[in-house]
Amino acid sequence: MLFDNDIKEIIATEEDIDAMCKRLGKQITEDFKGKEVVFVGLLNGCNPFFSDLLKRVELKVQVDYMRASSYHGTIKSSNEVKILKDLDLSIKGKHVIVVDDIIDTGKTLKAIVNILKYKGALSVTSCVLLDKASAREEDYDAKYVGLVIPNKFVVGYGLDFNEYYRNLPYIGVLSEKVYEG
Ligand code: IMP
Ligand code: MG
Repeated sequence: MLFDNDIKEIIATEEDIDAMCKRLGKQITEDFKGKEVVFVGLLNGCNPFFSDLLKRVELKVQVDYMRASSYHGTIKSSNEVKILKDLDLSIKGKHVIVVDDIIDTGKTLKAIVNILKYKGALSVTSCVLLDKASAREEDYDAKYVGLVIPNKFVVGYGLDFNEYYRNLPYIGVLSEKVYEG
């Protein structure tokens, strides 16, 4: 398999990911029936989860993106969350669902959710593919979670190390030898 030597353990196969997208899409479809919903994807990690999830959501929704600063060629989270790309749409009076690849310390999602509430959203809910629940440093949890994983650095299916590995179709634990050199 591609990058086989850099990945030491598979966390979720393509089939696992597909099943998670179906389950989350169905749940969101039921929970938001008849509501005005804006999906906000957090770039770059939200792709391809964002597209695969949206295909499973049977609602008339609007779609927009934000970009927040996070890891920069390191496997450690930075403390400050900066907005590098803001929304184009107005979310005033609308239900917002924020989508990201993973929740780790919770700093990114907590900060983004507060910004979206300040912008006048009727409600702000988050949906992540992966949840490193044991790494949380903030009092914030995502409502919709694909899979709870251990506190290990993972890549693939949108998740990167130094912008590499985003194109892996599965999610795996990155071998220490890649970042320890
Ligand atoms: P948080 O603010 O600590 O919750 O971090 C969230 C962001 O950190 C995510 O959007 C990811 O971009 C990045 N991140 C956290 N854990 C991992 C990982 O294991 N692999 C790749 N990126 C990660
Ligand atoms: Mg990210």
